[in-house]
Amino acid sequence: MSEHDSPMSRRQLLGSVASASAAIALTPRGALAESALHSMSIQQTEPAAADPLASVSDFERAARERMSTMAWEYVSGGAGDEQTLAWNTGAYTDIRLRSRVLQDVSQLDTSVQLFGRTLPHPILLAPTAYHQLVHSDGESETARGAATVESTMIVSSFATQRIEDVARAVPSASLWFQLYVQPDRGFTQELVQRAEAAGCQALCLTVDTPVLGARHRETRIGFQLPAGMSRANLERLSSATASSAHRPPEGAIYSEVLEPLLTWKDVAWLRGIATVPVLLKGVLDADDARQAVEAGVDGLIVSNHGARNLDTVPATVTALPRVAEAVAGRLPILLDGGIRRGTDVLKALALGATAVAIGRPYLYGLAVNGAAGVSRIVQLLRTEFEMAMALTGRTSLAALDKSVLWD
Ligand SMILES: Cc1cc2nc3c(=O)[nH]c(=O)nc-3n(C[C@H](O)[C@H](O)[C@H](O)COP(=O)(O)O)c2cc1C
Repeated sequence: MSEHDSPMSRRQLLGSVASASAAIALTPRGALAESALHSMSIQQTEPAAADPLASVSDFERAARERMSTMAWEYVSGGAGDEQTLAWNTGAYTDIRLRSRVLQDVSQLDTSVQLFGRTLPHPILLAPTAYHQLVHSDGESETARGAATVESTMIVSSFATQRIEDVARAVPSASLWFQLYVQPDRGFTQELVQRAEAAGCQALCLTVDTPVLGARHRETRIGFQLPAGMSRANLERLSSATASSAHRPPEGAIYSEVLEPLLTWKDVAWLRGIATVPVLLKGVLDADDARQAVEAGVDGLIVSNHGARNLDTVPATVTALPRVAEAVAGRLPILLDGGIRRGTDVLKALALGATAVAIGRPYLYGLAVNGAAGVSRIVQLLRTEFEMAMALTGRTSLAALDKSVLWD
């Protein structure tokens, strides 16, 4: 076995690359050159410890063992028969890649420009509710993990800690805020101002949830917030509202904390009061995407809410090309849903996404190992993404287009 085939030296090398490459300029990429690989493997004296948590799916299995049944069903579940849930991940396996050879891939640049900032890599944390269900330190713990790997965290309106407290706990975190407009627009405006004052750099208006989908797993388990846990950001509405179940009563579809009256007029209103970029989260349709451009929003997130709302809508990566065509480069497009591999990140970017966001994967990391688990998940995906870039012969995000796909 040559030193190039040694799994130990390869893993150690990649680990060192991953931890050293937190900075934007990816000079450690030179370590992937054969000479560096060769010399580093010779220098290794200690074998790397075995790591049973080598992929997102390893974390998923481990998380299932650690999470309460209530938390597991809430986090992992989708709507209806969970067709879209399966498609969100399955669609990536149906997309084949073209590998290319003899390209100089000794320097990789994974940085991306978004709203005037440079992100060192294109993997964000999608907004997810109720982190204290998974870890006692809740959203602050997630933010600590996100900060370590320089990943922007989109904090949910339904966080179990107030946005001010998350920002104060982790001043180095890059935060955006996800907005569920409340029937009380005065309160909603105040919430927007609080998020901006806390340092959130963008607002993601969730537009795909006027009502919840048929979440049978939540129904079967009787999902509710445990005593002592609440939607802390909504506490100024009323403590009863903040701790009420988000699920409507039996036979009803409307929820006290979701706004079925939300329309394009509200988008104009939000743009008028916001001082940071506004993205629409939950767009799948090309006509909606065109209207969003006309409405003057700053970005879109192609999302089907992690397959938790309308079952049998397509996978997000299936919807992405039509949205990208409609937008025609006029806005940055993010995508979430089903990203479990670095190759998934590559495929989404090739099909028109500027960046991606993950939901369940980092919650599994949070459940398994707190902040370190969150950062490890991002690091794993980033490392796999870098491998996929190198093996397709692409050295920057600008070089990722449809020509990287087999078809
Ligand atoms: C447990 C959980 C809670 C979520 N809570 C919210 C939320 O509060 N607001 C929101 O806009 N989206 C929410 N989402 C959707 C995510 O933002 C994202 O669209 C989805 O998780 C991406 O799919 P993935 O989990 O396959 O990565 C939630 C998703 C999950 C799994």
